[in-house]
Amino acid sequence: MSNRPSIGQPISRLEGQMKVTGSAKYSGEYNTPGLLYGYVVNSTIVRGEIVSINTVDARALPGVIEIFTHDNRPSLAWFNMQYADMDAPPGSPFRPLHDNEIKYYGQPIALVVAETFELARFAASLVTVEYEEETFSTDIHVNLGKARAPKAGLATALKPPPPKPKGDFEEAYANSPVQASGEFFHGTEHHNPLELFTTTTIYEGEGKLTIYDKTQGTVNCQLYVGNVFGLHFKDVRVISPYVGGAFGAGLRPQYQLFMSVMAALELKRNVRVTLDRSQMFTFGYRPPTIQTTQFGANTDGTVTALNHEAFGQTSHFEDYTEVVVNWANMLYPAQNTLFKYNMVPLDVFSPLDMRAPGGSTGVHAIESTMDDLSYKLKIDPLQLRLINYSVDDVSMDRPYSSKELRQCYLQGAEKFGWSNRNPEPRSMRKGNKLVGYGMATGIWEAMTVPARAEAIITKEGKLLVSSAVTDIGTGTLTVMTQIAADELGLKMDDVTFSYGDSKMPFAPIQGGSFTVSTIGSAIKAAGKALRKKLFKKAADIDNSPFKNVAIEDVDFDNGNIILKQNPSVSLSFQEIVAANKGKQIRTINFSVPNVLKLKKYSRAAHSAAFVEVEVDEELGIVNVTRAVTAVAAGNIINPKTARSQILGGMIWGISKALREETITDHHFGKYMNTNLGEYHIPVHADIHELDVIFVDEKDEIVNELGSKGIGEIGLVAMPPAIANAIFHATGKRINQFPIHFDSLL
Ligand code: MOS
Repeated sequence: MSNRPSIGQPISRLEGQMKVTGSAKYSGEYNTPGLLYGYVVNSTIVRGEIVSINTVDARALPGVIEIFTHDNRPSLAWFNMQYADMDAPPGSPFRPLHDNEIKYYGQPIALVVAETFELARFAASLVTVEYEEETFSTDIHVNLGKARAPKAGLATALKPPPPKPKGDFEEAYANSPVQASGEFFHGTEHHNPLELFTTTTIYEGEGKLTIYDKTQGTVNCQLYVGNVFGLHFKDVRVISPYVGGAFGAGLRPQYQLFMSVMAALELKRNVRVTLDRSQMFTFGYRPPTIQTTQFGANTDGTVTALNHEAFGQTSHFEDYTEVVVNWANMLYPAQNTLFKYNMVPLDVFSPLDMRAPGGSTGVHAIESTMDDLSYKLKIDPLQLRLINYSVDDVSMDRPYSSKELRQCYLQGAEKFGWSNRNPEPRSMRKGNKLVGYGMATGIWEAMTVPARAEAIITKEGKLLVSSAVTDIGTGTLTVMTQIAADELGLKMDDVTFSYGDSKMPFAPIQGGSFTVSTIGSAIKAAGKALRKKLFKKAADIDNSPFKNVAIEDVDFDNGNIILKQNPSVSLSFQEIVAANKGKQIRTINFSVPNVLKLKKYSRAAHSAAFVEVEVDEELGIVNVTRAVTAVAAGNIINPKTARSQILGGMIWGISKALREETITDHHFGKYMNTNLGEYHIPVHADIHELDVIFVDEKDEIVNELGSKGIGEIGLVAMPPAIANAIFHATGKRINQFPIHFDSLL
């Protein structure tokens, strides 16, 4: 281990300069001579059949190369087999251009390929379509009668079903002296990363492809393309060099990938397909959700009965679910519980995981109901959480691998100044504005999944590490370099981490907040194996000073192996490689979580958010003037990039509570605000003082790094803390998200 550890240091993003100076190339920036451009035509009906597509005018334009529709698409292996990607829910994945059936508004129905993007887009506007429309339904509110329970399926392995009922909820709730209940609605949200979804497919000849894709999983897309188009996996290379945000939108291969590859294979040309902003609303999204809660407590504040039920939307072809109702009993140790998740299939595309899927929705309902309970009990909301604090996960009857949530509550409250809060609603003012303080708890699962990594010592004594993982802007490159450097005792400058290429060792999709734990563990395993190998090679050298020395007796320090007892006894990595006939020393390792050990514990990151709002009741305007989020997420590898993750999550929380919603006009089954002008997100003027605390949390169980992941936990507690602060300010409990100004007037 290094004497100068970089883990725990606030290292700036290694690729930061390349990104801000524009030299980092994104998937839509790989240009080749003769590159062709595709533009997708989307359906303008919700459900029915295409009777005919007229492409005559579009084809007549000089420079238009081809127009693909279901009528003339190449016959592809896809249509002979069922293939599901790594994030596919149970069901049949959507197949672009499969036949003339329309399943949802905005469904891709044709691809125009032309010599320029502008020409392709203009030609697409000349394509006319005759449809036979059928009746449809897109409104979850009027279809609750069609709700059904999700089928169990392999793809839901990362999405556990709701915990089984315990005790007797009905009786316990009926007999509770204090009760709180709520009905909650969350609108649809689209991920809207700034970078549009683009694929540039380079046709390398004989069915060989190099694909630059915006994705959260290079291997996921490689397997998709191989399976769908019947290609050998080794002939398909997917590279995702930089990713301008994704938030879950890139967890599944998107249809621009299909279109770009189809056209490249058929035309034997290089083809780029880019979705425009409006088309970013024609695939996955966070589903609208209806929830109900009923919590019962004793007069001392002990919560004894928990009921949480959710209805989430899905498509007719896939059973998409979210983990919405599993969290209440993970947080609060009631013995009488009832949890249910229902799916409502509609004439829509399948939803898709979006940052803290399920958790950010469910915890809002839970934490606002707890807030309501605190007023009924006349117990401070923070105190109520402490009264119901549990070191165990009662929903699974097992302990947490670690849980420093209490420290999040205490340190967050201290930093925020929670004790200055007057418990009475509408009691605090600043000028003509009402001031409210609200708090809430956050929780997110700490997962680790299998992955591989390669580690090499070069003849210059430098370390090369690689994994197919992407970096969706979270700081993966930087953090992995830190982990690798520490494992070999090197300075970060002597380490190169290569990533974002399906040719590299296997990595799963980058999501679920599990990338640092997963790829970090693989790199640690590869680094450890490499140390052993280096040491063995060192000991095998003629006259080696390490002949009868055990690996425990040496240190790896700045490119040398040194004897702990006597640091002047050493061999450099360069000397070891030279003695290896100049051949670099290499290992590749597969790291798999220890399931037998892990299943004895629940593993989760926790947080507590404290929020101050100012509400102008004349205008209905809410300002989040201050917020503190305290996070317990195990070992924080890089406090700088981690803080950025939490800040991003907090801003997302402000967005979720107050801004973001994709509005559907159910008469047309169509989203009405498919642009960033009308799809509201917070701007600089909406963001004030945000503070992040990482509390100390040691976890020797969760994985070797002791890291729990921080991509999603920053979001979870914020929306309920905001809603609770609004209640404290105004006395109005608004459970419909986002909270619009008219509900405050
Ligand atoms: Mo995250 S929604 O798993 O990218």
